[in-house]
Order: sequence, then C-alpha cells, then structure tokens
Amino acid sequence: MKVEGKVAMVTGGARGIGKAICAGLLEEGAKGVCIVDNRTAEGQGTASELCAKHGENRAIYVNTDVTADDQFEAAFVKTKDQYGRLDIVINNAAIVDLVNYRRMVDVNLTAVITGTMLALKYMGKCHGFDGGIVVNVSSIGGLAAIANLLFRF
Ligand SMILES: NC(=O)c1ccc[n+]([C@@H]2O[C@H](COP(=O)([O-])OP(=O)(O)OC[C@H]3O[C@@H](n4cnc5c(N)ncnc54)[C@H](O)[C@@H]3O)[C@@H](O)[C@H]2O)c1
Repeated sequence: MKVEGKVAMVTGGARGIGKAICAGLLEEGAKGVCIVDNRTAEGQGTASELCAKHGENRAIYVNTDVTADDQFEAAFVKTKDQYGRLDIVINNAAIVDLVNYRRMVDVNLTAVITGTMLALKYMGKCHGFDGGIVVNVSSIGGLAAIANLLFRF
C-alpha cells in the first residue's frame, strides 16, 4: 500500500520494533503516526524525536494500556481528532511474562483482537469510512512449535 498521506496507529510504538515502524512510516511520507503505549516517558520521547526529524505534530503519543478497552478506544478517537482520518493500525504491543501469563494473554492476544475490532469500527467501509490496513505483529513462535521454549525463561 502507498503510505504517503496516510495516518497510522502503532501500539507498542514507544520503543523497539514499534518505534522503528513509526519512523519507517514517516520516512515513507505518512501524514501522521499515533504512538499508543503505556511507557509515558519513552513514548513522549519517541514522539518528540520523530517530530524533530519529520515535522511538528507528525507523531503524537497517547498514553494507553491496550488491555483497557476504554483507553484503547479513546486512542482511536484522539488519532482521528488529530489527523482527521485513520488508515493503518499496527497491533504490535506485547510482553513476555510467563509468571503473570493471564496478563500476557490479555496484551498479546485479547488486545490484538480488540485493536482489530476497533480498526473495523473506525476505518471500516461497513461503518462509512474508506477502509484500511490492519497489521498484527506476532512471532515465528506463533506459527511453529519451539521445543523446550519455556525452559529458556
Ligand atoms: N524482538 C524480537 O526479537 C521479536 C521476535 C518476534 C516477535 N516480536 C514481536 O514484535 C513486537 C515488538 O516487540 P519488541 O521486541 O519491539 O518489544 P518491546 O518490548 O521492545 O516493545 C513492546 C512495546 O509494547 C509496549 N506495551 C506492552 N504492554 C503494553 C500495554 N499493555 N499497553 C500498551 N503498550 C504496551 C511496551 O511498553 C513496549 O513499548 C511484539 O509483538 C513481539 O511479539 C519481537
């Protein structure tokens, strides 16, 4: 898809792969990127860094726990208020926490489904919008069994 002029939301965009995705989208000419994360300092820092490089307001940070449905939906509303549209949703936020595994499933699976459903609600042609792209980031571990993986933690 052509990224130029499009607006994206990236969960887990404060650092790591999500931050690199945000930078890549802006380099390809995206109109704006909304960083959705729960690391306030890192998220604000990333947004400032991207704005310094690509222009004022090209990136915004919305402090959000993606497992809190009301916060997550508010981030969609904020993105559309800020940029007037939404075209790309990248569900990238994840944690590794084998002790608190329920939380891990909430972040890595349930919130990805929530993000996909919200993407439909805020971009879907069935809701009168232009449609868009949803990218759900996973791992090779989601596709193939890795023997003894648990013992590595
Ligand atoms: N790094 C790797 O080698 C690797 C390998 C396979 C898959 N992946 C996938 O790539 C994606 C990014 O991984 P990464 O290595 O950049 O991870 P990371 O830990 O560097 O970044 C994850 C981001 O998600 C955010 N996050 C976590 N829980 C959140 C929540 N409840 N609400 C909002 N934000 C939350 C974190 O604050 C962080 O900024 C993940 O989906 C991961 O499964 C990474």
